[in-house]
Amino acid sequence: MHAWYSLNRWRPTIDAIEKYLLTVEPTPSKELVLIGGSAGWMMSTQWLQKFSHLHTYDIDPFAHRLFQWRHGQALKKSGVTLTAHRQDAIETLPLIARNHPDALFWFDNVLGQHRFRLDDEDLAEKQMLQIQSILAGKSWGSLHDRYSGPLEKPLLALQVPLLCANMVLMNVEGGVRYKNKLLSNDEAAQQMLVNINATGTWQDHGTTYLLPMGIERKWIPWAFKPLYGHWLEIAWVKS
Ligand SMILES: C[S@@+](CC[C@H](N)C(=O)[O-])C[C@H]1O[C@@H](n2cnc3c(N)ncnc32)[C@H](O)[C@@H]1O
Repeated sequence: MHAWYSLNRWRPTIDAIEKYLLTVEPTPSKELVLIGGSAGWMMSTQWLQKFSHLHTYDIDPFAHRLFQWRHGQALKKSGVTLTAHRQDAIETLPLIARNHPDALFWFDNVLGQHRFRLDDEDLAEKQMLQIQSILAGKSWGSLHDRYSGPLEKPLLALQVPLLCANMVLMNVEGGVRYKNKLLSNDEAAQQMLVNINATGTWQDHGTTYLLPMGIERKWIPWAFKPLYGHWLEIAWVKS
């Protein structure tokens, strides 16, 4: 319900995600494994239509029906087959990787909530670090929360593309490369908090080391609620 009522406010973020995804080309296999896609509220139908086979994995019993409702018709029209799996895809990732040897894997805003869902920071961190080795040799990507917290004033729709354009960075040993500068992770976080007009206490979603070093990533702001924002990170790891 929150997603449904928030779609207008989320639109600039949805557009930024689509713009990024459309730069990601499917490999010749044309199979996509989408993990934690929920109803696909923020997912680009146009990007999904580039694939021939789509496998969604979600633990939510309602996810498939809602996803079908939002994207099903368009996918059918473009001949994309859709198979839904209700399963914990993080715990069973090795098996899923074996079952889809040639697929592209996309984590769709699921990994940033993992530590809160498990309520065990160490286990969540261990499982997330294993993703790189489980998917080694495959093409995979992720959209996930980096930080979230209260905003001093609402984020304007116009600000989203401007902030996205500025926030292209790369994790390197000892910190982050941002606009040709080397920053520590704390300095990068401070920069991001200033850019989004953060106030109060912000949460770290534990995704700093999720992606391999040296992978270019974008940070995308998201007005999750009128006065509550997220910094999302989006990146693609090519096989
Ligand atoms: C924030 S929602 C994703 C929203 C989605 N990106 C969209 O555009 O609507 C996270 C989703 O991940 C699912 N999820 C959480 N942990 C999961 C896991 N271990 N395996 C599969 N799905 C999971 C949740 O059920 C939820 O549907």
